Amino acid sequence: ATQLGSKKERTLALIKPDVVTKIGDIIELIYSSDLIVTKAKMTKLTWSQAADFYVEHQSKAFFNNLVQFVSSGPVVAMELMGDEAMSIWRRLLGPADSALARKEAPQSVRAQFGTDAIKNVCHGSESLAAAARELEFFFPSTSGHGPSNTAIYTDC
Ligand code: TYD
Repeated sequence: ATQLGSKKERTLALIKPDVVTKIGDIIELIYSSDLIVTKAKMTKLTWSQAADFYVEHQSKAFFNNLVQFVSSGPVVAMELMGDEAMSIWRRLLGPADSALARKEAPQSVRAQFGTDAIKNVCHGSESLAAAARELEFFFPSTSGHGPSNTAIYTDC
């Protein structure tokens, strides 16, 4: 197989509070799409952290509900790495609305595990610029005390 045109990327996957019990299933889907998990962190966001994370949606009608939901319980942030990781993860997720995903992309993560447009399982960065910002949000390069976030897959 040719490597021509292949582009190793890193992107953010965020497992939302509705499905943290499905971490195993979701990671299986990630690995079966030839992506690997290079960093992972389980945490709970405050309202204002969630609002910062979703700042690009702050003018949307659903913003308050979205921020409330994402800060309502534990989330799992993961850095995914692989060829075209950003778009592959977005495709694996399917459309934002889980009901639409069940119609248009029945194999997708949201079709299988989602409830609606807000309880939609996971977030995926929308662009490489967004991925860089969102990875820095969850895995800051200067993290102070404690074990570092440095990737252990140094050859990736
Ligand atoms: P969007 O950027 O449309 O989708 P994606 O998550 O695939 O990037 O929407 C961002 C998030 O906003 C989405 O994951 C959940 C939330 N959202 C709602 O709560 N209600 C809605 O009607 C839409 C379209 C999105």
